[in-house]
Amino acid sequence: MEEIVENGGSDLLKGKIMATLFYEPSTRTRFSFEAAMLRLGGSVLTNADMATTSSAVKMESLSDTGKVVSQMADVIVMRHAQGGAVESLASGSDVPVLNAGDGPMDHPTQGLLDLYTIWKTFGKIDGLKIGLVGDLKYSRVLHSNSQLLSNFDLELILVSPTQLALPPDYKKGLKFKETEKLSEVIGELDVICCNRLQKERFDNPSDCEKYRGSFVISSEVLKSAKDELIILNPLPRREELPVEVDNDPRAKYFEQVKNGVAVRMALLKKVLNG
Ligand code: NCD
Repeated sequence: MEEIVENGGSDLLKGKIMATLFYEPSTRTRFSFEAAMLRLGGSVLTNADMATTSSAVKMESLSDTGKVVSQMADVIVMRHAQGGAVESLASGSDVPVLNAGDGPMDHPTQGLLDLYTIWKTFGKIDGLKIGLVGDLKYSRVLHSNSQLLSNFDLELILVSPTQLALPPDYKKGLKFKETEKLSEVIGELDVICCNRLQKERFDNPSDCEKYRGSFVISSEVLKSAKDELIILNPLPRREELPVEVDNDPRAKYFEQVKNGVAVRMALLKKVLNG
């Protein structure tokens, strides 16, 4: 897929239509899916503002919206602020529905591109020591990371304040160590997966402010880390990743964005023509 992008595209999915239904803000994920579809020669129907400009305003059920859009598109990609919304829409759809962010629950394609970035860097995923750092309670990206990484033989370290620990459902069947102190483990890690505090998902968003600054991965903090470490973040970033780190060769978050297009191309091809 990376070669196809370098060569300017292909017609592998010519004649296919992807509908992107976004009920929640997005920069990367929607563009990434759309770039992926366009690179494969397919076409795109898009609504970045489903919550305010679609029949959601007229109280159409998600299931009905799924049924209707699936009469016009070959695949649906959706994001919603409420967990479980993707399943509701998919329940009515006659075509595959890809989860581009399901409230505070999961964001599996971001998880896949994170794993791809790890694999591309190290040539393996087994045997690594991987830290999931920050708001493990509300970050759907870190939830998907934990679920996908549980398929490998590796050491997983969960780093968060206890109040923002990974929810029990995501810990089922997961082998991990837990700490509140990044400084205790940073020297051992091969990979840091971090994400901003998910302020909009807190019951009381102002509560999130007391954790701000808890896990800043600054140049100073990185002095204790391995040279081979890689730092992943789905972006957008806030204070957890100061701009000063961007020129550190260990920062991989912009490369991740590029990898995301290739991963989503592979997924669309798999879903649409086997
Ligand atoms: C993430 C998301 O939407 O969950 N962003 C993304 O998809 N690249 C992370 C975030 O919003 O913090």
